[in-house]
Amino acid sequence: MGGGASKNAVADSPEPKVLENQDPIPQDKVDDARMVADLIENGTSNVTSHRIDVSADVIKEDVPDDAIKVTTIQVKPATESKPKAEKTGPPKYGIEIRKQPIAKGNGHLTVSDSKFPGNTPLHSYKIFKFQQPVAPVRAERYSVSTMEGALTARDRVGVQDFVLLEEYKSENAFIFNLKKRFKEKLIYTYIGSVLVSVNPYQQLSFYTQYHMEKYQGVNFYEMPPHVYAIADNVYRSMRNESCDQCILISGESGAGKTEASKYILQYLSVCSTSNEQVGHIKSQLLQSNPVLEAFGNAKTHRNDNSSRFGKYMDIQFDYKGAPVGGHILNYLLEKSRVVHQASGERNFHIFYQLMEGSDEKMLRKLCLEKTPDTYFYTNQGKCAKVRSINDRKDFIAVQKALKVLEFSEQQIDNLFEIVASVLHLGNVNFSANDEGNAVVQNDHVVQKVSILLGCDLDQLLQALTHRTIEANKEKMQSPLAVDQAVYARDALAKAVYGRMFNWLVESLNGSLTNKDVKRRSLIGLLDIYGFEIFKSNSFEQFCINFCNEKLQQLFIQLTLKQEQEEYRSEGIEWEPVEYFNNKVICDLVEERHKGIIDILDEECLRPGDASDKTFLKKLEETVGEHKHFVTHALGDAKMRKTIGYEEFRLIHYAGEVTYSIEGFLDKNNDLLFRDLKETMSKATNEIIKSVFPTSELARLKRPETVGSQFRTSLNKLMDILMSKEPSYVRCIKPNDAKMSDRFDDNLVRHQVKYLGLMENLRVRRAGFAYRRTYDVFLKRYKSLCPKTWPRWDGPAKEGVALLCKHIDYADGDYRLGKTKIFIRFPKTLFATEDAFQIRKHELATQIQASFRGWSQWRKFQRMRDAVTLLSAHWRRVLACRLREKRKKAVHDVRKFILGFITRNRPRCPENAHFLDYVRISYLQRCQSGLPRNVLDKSWPKAPAALEEAADLLQHLYMRNMTLKYVKTITPQRKAAMEEKVLASAIFRSKKRGYEESVAQPFQDKRQVDQLKPKMQTSMDPGDKPIYCCTVTKYDRHGYHARQRTLVVGSSATYLFDSKDGKLKQKILHSELRGISTSSLGDHVFVLHAPSEQKQKGDAIVQSTFAIETMTKLANIAKKSKDVKVVENGSILHDMAGGKQGTIEFHAGTQPSVTKSKQGSLVVIAPGR
Ligand SMILES: Nc1ncnc2c1ncn2[C@@H]1O[C@H](COP(=O)(O)OP(=O)(O)O)[C@@H](O)[C@H]1O
Ligand SMILES: [Mg+2]
Repeated sequence: MGGGASKNAVADSPEPKVLENQDPIPQDKVDDARMVADLIENGTSNVTSHRIDVSADVIKEDVPDDAIKVTTIQVKPATESKPKAEKTGPPKYGIEIRKQPIAKGNGHLTVSDSKFPGNTPLHSYKIFKFQQPVAPVRAERYSVSTMEGALTARDRVGVQDFVLLEEYKSENAFIFNLKKRFKEKLIYTYIGSVLVSVNPYQQLSFYTQYHMEKYQGVNFYEMPPHVYAIADNVYRSMRNESCDQCILISGESGAGKTEASKYILQYLSVCSTSNEQVGHIKSQLLQSNPVLEAFGNAKTHRNDNSSRFGKYMDIQFDYKGAPVGGHILNYLLEKSRVVHQASGERNFHIFYQLMEGSDEKMLRKLCLEKTPDTYFYTNQGKCAKVRSINDRKDFIAVQKALKVLEFSEQQIDNLFEIVASVLHLGNVNFSANDEGNAVVQNDHVVQKVSILLGCDLDQLLQALTHRTIEANKEKMQSPLAVDQAVYARDALAKAVYGRMFNWLVESLNGSLTNKDVKRRSLIGLLDIYGFEIFKSNSFEQFCINFCNEKLQQLFIQLTLKQEQEEYRSEGIEWEPVEYFNNKVICDLVEERHKGIIDILDEECLRPGDASDKTFLKKLEETVGEHKHFVTHALGDAKMRKTIGYEEFRLIHYAGEVTYSIEGFLDKNNDLLFRDLKETMSKATNEIIKSVFPTSELARLKRPETVGSQFRTSLNKLMDILMSKEPSYVRCIKPNDAKMSDRFDDNLVRHQVKYLGLMENLRVRRAGFAYRRTYDVFLKRYKSLCPKTWPRWDGPAKEGVALLCKHIDYADGDYRLGKTKIFIRFPKTLFATEDAFQIRKHELATQIQASFRGWSQWRKFQRMRDAVTLLSAHWRRVLACRLREKRKKAVHDVRKFILGFITRNRPRCPENAHFLDYVRISYLQRCQSGLPRNVLDKSWPKAPAALEEAADLLQHLYMRNMTLKYVKTITPQRKAAMEEKVLASAIFRSKKRGYEESVAQPFQDKRQVDQLKPKMQTSMDPGDKPIYCCTVTKYDRHGYHARQRTLVVGSSATYLFDSKDGKLKQKILHSELRGISTSSLGDHVFVLHAPSEQKQKGDAIVQSTFAIETMTKLANIAKKSKDVKVVENGSILHDMAGGKQGTIEFHAGTQPSVTKSKQGSLVVIAPGR
């Protein structure tokens, strides 16, 4: 596989961006790529088994950045013989292989795991373009998950049922269809209900439990062809119709018969009804295979595991459909293989298994070497080791199977002793003694045989070299010549092995027998050698081909019968079909007294010197006239060249076969000398003893010849098969090289011919190509007729009739049977299918649109319902809340009223809440109604109960507010305040004009800029002006008014001439006796200073800011207590020289300061 891949992989990609893949590209990926190319090039692909979703936008101009791993594969169109790729240069398309599965979707080509529908996608490929622009890829989506669905894909993987093949008479078309499908690993195709299987020579993935389950109980045509479909159909028919079934598997050696029979058995075992009891019988049925294969299969040129016997196996089922037993019939074991194998072939597997698989102990016991080369019977083919066979493993399986099949230890030992003894027997050599008689050269080998079989050594030695002849009722020992002795030895080996094989089958039957006789139905499974044509064909091929001739006869008969029956039961007239009836050939072989078998028997029994040649002569005499028989002597000149003198040719239905007559008589006689039989009958090996019964010795009649025996058993088999409903699996081998990818047209053509498949197809297609039950047909196509769409309630048949009328089927193209419609030509069906595909798209659009509308409407409805529900709930919630609120309100109001009524009682539960409420509401009222400054003395009115608390609160609040206010004022402001307080203490309610002055802030330096430097220097050293203002001074004498500047220092008060700045008077604060002013609204005051010793005495001063000036002065000089406000009247002032003057104050509206005639100063000012 890998080789094929690398051939296609292109290393020099034209796009530098493309990453290189390190791994070799698997073949199936290459196939996929090819398919992709095909799809892009033609818009079609011949592959349908893949699920494909491709749309135009998948062609990317670039390799996507997120590509994990990109592999470029040179893709070629999938047409046959066009190695064009070399010419086309660089690859046109790439295929991106992702390691991770990507979900199926637009832009991805999804390839399923196997070439089988229904698998989960494993790989997803993105297609991108490399160079030239390409036409848009047709968006395709099709599935082959059903057989009907496969109609859509018919042109891509051929037809799945040959009856749909347009050119059904053309062998080429038939083979081409097989080939197309084989290339896509679609190995199964139907001819009606017959399954044609092409050996894939590789393990395919559609034999899993999953697939078995998928095929269970489905309509035969609903799924792609499969051997499981046949098995299921058979099982269901057996159960439902309670009639016995059989499956005939035929085909040439290596075509896959045995594999098919194993799959069927496995399916029946897995899918049939199970219970505890049947588990054991199921495993026994399955385990019979490895045992029979070990003893009856061998490696041949054609098949590494070729069955060298015919097998018919009955599986018995009870009424519930559970397997309860089985029975095996075996036919014509190829015994000659025991003593002779062609180069490159092997003896039966068991010989090699025993040597390879036995342990030392067993080998010692059987006196065996491990080397097949040591034994004549296993060294002739020179290929003891085969790659595909693991003898050791197989031997373990055989031993296990024997146990499951309940063989005893003893029996198993005996079996292997026989197998070993046959090997030893082959090594017995003879030489001629002086009389030319045979003597055994190696007695010790014979001794091993005698030990293993438990027979007498001397007797065995004697029997191998002598023969008892009865002449005139006297028994004589006649010595054998060497070649006779060899013949006798081989005959013994063959007989021992052959009879042991029969015993084995019988014992298996013993285990498989249904102990409970209430069996209900049978399914028979026939796996028998197919037609054999070798270079040299002998008696065996003659028998085998005769068997196939008989089976073909049965097949044609039954198929025709089935067809006819179906037509009859459906009430459709039967049109006679021409077919080749091979009865004439069967008769040539088996007819009593006139047939080849009887002629052969006659020659075998005839006294005198009968030989193969006399037999040929007899044949020419008896059947020489027969159309299907030719010999050298009978043929024309041309024919003579191809037939030897010692050959005859039969013209079988499947072709001409030339048989060499050499050995016919011997093989037919299958003679074993009586002496050997007798020796064997005395053996202690139980199996040998039982298969060589002494009764046989007493029988005088000659044993039946092989030919007759075979004929009898074959006829019995025919009877068995005739009594059952047959199904067929026809196996085809695609090539002789056991290769998975080679399809040899000629080889297949040959098999198609001798399997009679064209004949079969002709019979099946003679009348009508397609038939389906009405309901199946109607279900698929009812959309094509308005009367049946979307529903048809009447009987399906009438619906189909209407449908056929509507789509205009021509009268001759179809028939309506009782339960089925029959369509004559595939093209009619295909046209219907095409119409259906178109209709399907239309319908899909319609359905989609209505569905969208419907789903939106549903969504809306659901939302509306939800809204209604929600609002109802919400209203309820709101109502509940309101009720609760009202309830609470009523309660609160009641409580409030009760509290109000009892408010004057001491606190008790009834009024506690009310009182709290009163308190809280008062406090809340307080919050907004409190005074904003310290001067505001208002306070919210408190209810009676809180009056005391309100007073306390007010007090606290005021204090707090005052404290806060005090904390905010500066020292200057404090000082100013203190001055104001001082002024208040002195003047409040005493002097008119005080109230007006309260609002005027005091100032330190009124007209201080007038304070001339001279005034400052005139002040006492260390004294600084603290306050100054301009005043009017009245002389003590004469009361002249003078402009003076009053400056208050820290220790003294100075009066300066405002004009020249001369110091006029200095009053030390320590000497200041007091300050007097009247209660009127005048601005005059007197500073009482000492008048003695040059002191000027009291100063009468008028200041516009009298209150301010007096307060400042009193404060600075610390004389606040000495300020006197005189009530209406007069102030006396000292003058120098001890005299006193008077200042009189009168209330009046015209303020004035004048000197009265009496010499006093009269001040008139507004009164209080
Ligand atoms: N369905 C199958 N799938 C895979 N391999 C198969 C299949 N059928 C046959 N083979 C291969 O072909 C070989 C021969 O098949 P077998 O059934 O023994 O042939 P026959 O019985 O016809 O002689 C088998 O050993 C197996 O390798
Ligand atoms: Mg086989």
